[in-house]
Amino acid sequence: MTPRNWLSEVDLSPANTLQLPSSAEYFCAPVTLKALQDCLRRAHQEMLPIQLLGGGSNVLLPEYLAGLVVHPALTQWWMEPRGDSLLAHVGAGVNWHALVMATVGKGLWGLENLALIPGSCGAAPVQNIGAYGVELADVLEAVEVMYLADGHLAWLSAEECAFGYRESIFKSELLGKVVITRLVLRLKRHAAPVLGYGDLAQRLGESPSSLDVANTVCRVRSEKLPDPAQLANAGSFFKNPLVSAEQARVLLDAYPAMPHFAQQNGTVKLAAGWLIDQCGLKGARFGAFGVHHRQALVLVHFGGGNRPELLAVAEQIAAEVKARFGVLLEIEPRLL
Ligand code: EPU
Repeated sequence: MTPRNWLSEVDLSPANTLQLPSSAEYFCAPVTLKALQDCLRRAHQEMLPIQLLGGGSNVLLPEYLAGLVVHPALTQWWMEPRGDSLLAHVGAGVNWHALVMATVGKGLWGLENLALIPGSCGAAPVQNIGAYGVELADVLEAVEVMYLADGHLAWLSAEECAFGYRESIFKSELLGKVVITRLVLRLKRHAAPVLGYGDLAQRLGESPSSLDVANTVCRVRSEKLPDPAQLANAGSFFKNPLVSAEQARVLLDAYPAMPHFAQQNGTVKLAAGWLIDQCGLKGARFGAFGVHHRQALVLVHFGGGNRPELLAVAEQIAAEVKARFGVLLEIEPRLL
């Protein structure tokens, strides 16, 4: 008999923002650390594979997930004064955007550029969410994790998380080994605006508050990115590719207007959206899927499609970009 708080044969299509058809053999949403440990122990006893699912905004779900899908619903958060700053201790199940708006509503600085990113706080470190010149890594102090094997808790410092562009230890060494249970974020009481990206500064007046910045970021995002509640999508479908300085120079000779961003390690980041757009694919429709008409980096699902079809579309787009620019695009969402 399965535990009372487990559901069986659960439809996960509403639980992923791409609305891919998917179901889980078992599903549970523990609200405390103890309940989470109990879930893990029980899954081991029953020899069930465990999959983790946060807000479902950055995953590609298969049609069937055998075993137990765990949705951490740890939704407590609190603040601790620390000198000039405040440390926010945030449960993995807290909605990221709700947290951002709650902190800017208190006049705190640090998360404003990351407004309107869908998903849960527990998923944020996995891909080191980033937007408008700020990454989670810039504000993260530590992460609490629970080991899936035996339920023990451990802390990782920001350095130990090995953050990179849309990368972290949770995608490499710790993949499939831990569940993130809590984040500790460092927030500032004093104004610390980061307005260097795009036209953020021009859109804001003198001395904006963190709430002003967050509201402006929301407006910019809403102008370009489809709302998953209206049109299914998982945000950027590809990572912005990093190429060598040499390859960037050759491409810039041919395409002088190409957006490019030199990185500290000597590589150059290109805009995948621009590359796809240049291939004439913005707004293109491929059966149940399409390239969004305002942001070519986002693939949208009009309904009736599935993961293999979506992956085939992504492959076709990547092949066109490779043929035209010689640049390899990598998928951003996680394949469960
Ligand atoms: N561009 C085009 N055509 C397009 C899309 C973009 O020409 O269809 C050009 C833009 O004009 C600009 C450049 O490409 O010159 C970059 O575009 P944008 O500023 O919209 O940002 P992005 O590189 O496409 C990244 C993140 C977004 C994040 C924005 C803002 C990745 C994979 N994506 O997009 O993150 O919101 O920067 O910081 O790094 C996400 O991860 O889901 C996401 C939305």
